Amino acid sequence: MKFDSAATTNPIDRLKVIGQPLDRIDGPLKTTGKAPYAYERHDIVADPAYGHVIGATIAKGRITAMDLSAAERAPGVLAVVTARNAGVLKKGNYNTAHLLGGPDIQHYHQAVALVVAESFEQARAAAHLVRIDYKAEPGRFDLHAAKGSATAPEPSDLTGPIDTHVGDFPRAFAQAAVRLDETYTTPDQSHAMMEPHATLASWEGDSLTVWTSNQMVAWSTGELATTLGIPPEKVRLISPYIGGGFGSKLFLRADVVLAALGARAAGRPVKVALQRPLIANNTTHRPATIQRVRLGAERDGTITAIGHESWSGDLEGGGPETAVGQTRLLYAGANRMTSMRLAVLDLPEGNAMRAPGEAPGLMALEIAMDEMAEKLGIDPVEFRIRNDTQVDPEHPERPFSARPFVQCLRLGAERFGWDRRNARPGQIRDGRWLIGLGMAAGFRNNLLAKSGARVRLDNLGVVTVETDMTDIGTGSYTIIAQTAAEMMGVPMEQVRVVLGDSSFPVSAGSGGQWGAASSTAGVYAACVKLREEVARKLSLNSADAEFVDGEVRVGNRSIRLQAAAAEGDLVAEDRMEYGDITEKMQQSTFAGHFVEVAVDSATGESRIRRMLAVCAAGRILNPKSARSQVIGAMTMGAGAALMEELAVDTRRGFFVNHDLVGYEVPVHADIPHQEVVFLDETDPMSTPLKAKGVGELGICGVGAAVANAIYNATGVRVRDYPITLDKHL
Ligand code: MOS
Repeated sequence: MKFDSAATTNPIDRLKVIGQPLDRIDGPLKTTGKAPYAYERHDIVADPAYGHVIGATIAKGRITAMDLSAAERAPGVLAVVTARNAGVLKKGNYNTAHLLGGPDIQHYHQAVALVVAESFEQARAAAHLVRIDYKAEPGRFDLHAAKGSATAPEPSDLTGPIDTHVGDFPRAFAQAAVRLDETYTTPDQSHAMMEPHATLASWEGDSLTVWTSNQMVAWSTGELATTLGIPPEKVRLISPYIGGGFGSKLFLRADVVLAALGARAAGRPVKVALQRPLIANNTTHRPATIQRVRLGAERDGTITAIGHESWSGDLEGGGPETAVGQTRLLYAGANRMTSMRLAVLDLPEGNAMRAPGEAPGLMALEIAMDEMAEKLGIDPVEFRIRNDTQVDPEHPERPFSARPFVQCLRLGAERFGWDRRNARPGQIRDGRWLIGLGMAAGFRNNLLAKSGARVRLDNLGVVTVETDMTDIGTGSYTIIAQTAAEMMGVPMEQVRVVLGDSSFPVSAGSGGQWGAASSTAGVYAACVKLREEVARKLSLNSADAEFVDGEVRVGNRSIRLQAAAAEGDLVAEDRMEYGDITEKMQQSTFAGHFVEVAVDSATGESRIRRMLAVCAAGRILNPKSARSQVIGAMTMGAGAALMEELAVDTRRGFFVNHDLVGYEVPVHADIPHQEVVFLDETDPMSTPLKAKGVGELGICGVGAAVANAIYNATGVRVRDYPITLDKHL
């Protein structure tokens, strides 16, 4: 089905199930520990062997010698897989480094061997007996040192254009009445999801099945086939439950490839979970950035020049962190420039982490906006409102499909009590605590991806939805069930949702906050088709048929829905596609973030006291699961502001704090009451359900809102994240 914003089959604005704050239907399975995660598929494979991954202990260089003999003789060992005995492995399109390294080593903790044994303990013990000698070569590990060597990367679908220019930025900036020119830095960050990357692999002849934890089933099925050099139809990838992804599981990683190779070598099913201390350096991370923001404005606050440059690093062949993306779209201004530069670094592979681009980009831009508002003597909320735009400022012929950004800011200011803020910093005390209020804009693009589903109606009136869509803890199961229940006119209890299997129709998958809106649109398309099938079977005119309360009604006739399946299940499959709609108009989501902090006047310790997000993201499919997404993202934004940082050893080239002891993330005690308000909005240009993504919007802008609140509390402007206490004493 091709998306047509003018024609939707459903009376979609008189919804009964979509839009309800229903509990997650997978909730009981999760909270009782019964949801089967990849490493726990005892129901399918009772007695797998265990793989233990060995990571390289140099960042760059070569393996000169490898002695496996002691490990191979160790108790319980079934196989030791290395690049020497694994056969030819190709590199997939989505990973920059090889997933099994050797003899060349491309980054620290690149996998170099898998030891397979009867038990996990035996595999781990034998892994310690593998002797590897390396010859290390010098590498480039320091973004600040490599900044001068950075060049313009090749543009791709993921980056968009590398540089943009509108008007005459240098001249407008030079002539501006009020100017700001500051540089901000964000650190490398780790996804730190709860469930590690884990896979159970099993061969039957030349057919491979992997139960794994992956956000993008179709991508990774293809990548696994490419890597192993086998036809894609010989690979089945199953990923029904995922204990957090945040982008770390968008792509195929070493656990999948090594489990498959280990199972082939051992001649039996093998499971592999990346050990926690390996994950930070073995997989991907959000790359550090250096960002220069220049703003020029008239004294009345009208921005006349806006410039944003970003530097980041990655392995040879990798890509930039797209930290300037939001600056192309968020504020008006006649003269503009943005640019991205990429330095080659021999650190582990950089890649997407929740709201790649916008999350770190707004951490810079939105402090700059706060600084500029102060220079102008204008309230930061008003300064942003004054520079609102309803069109893409680089391409004024492209309007936003919907942009209630100003409403987010005004409602947020009112709900938060922004008028109680003292614009002069360092003025409000509560005992030893300095109190500050800060705000920032939130912005994240709404990406649409074609998405398919299959729906089945049986003679009990049960509707089953099958799609390779994933649920990374976001609530996909529930909103998909709501969509099917709404479309087929059945109660939620009559809907079954089966996800994450490569044998099902290809969906959008979970990434870039496109999952919820795109996948439910695909389910909608399949349900429209199933309704036509039902009507045909019952000899009704489908255009007139209403599907409600388990019945199909036309005029005063009504027939039980399951009557259509009396002679056998009815099955329909379709997908939603969007054509060029997003070229003609800009689709984005918006937020206003408001934060109150207290900073200990003696120690500099920052505590967040209150957080509010007002979000505009089209129709909210389920306010309960959407709120959970937003408060989780706000929590991640608080972590980015105050504590998260992978510490780089710039001599040896690795992230030092590569476990959950050294890599700090917020805990409950760090996070106060959080309030989330969704604007009552629908966007008819987005999907048939008029919904947009919201899972990443919640992190976008939070870091700067915290930073601006700390400035308001203390009068010290910190431009280098995370804002640890040493930086503002
Ligand atoms: Mo997201 S960083 O595309 O999982």
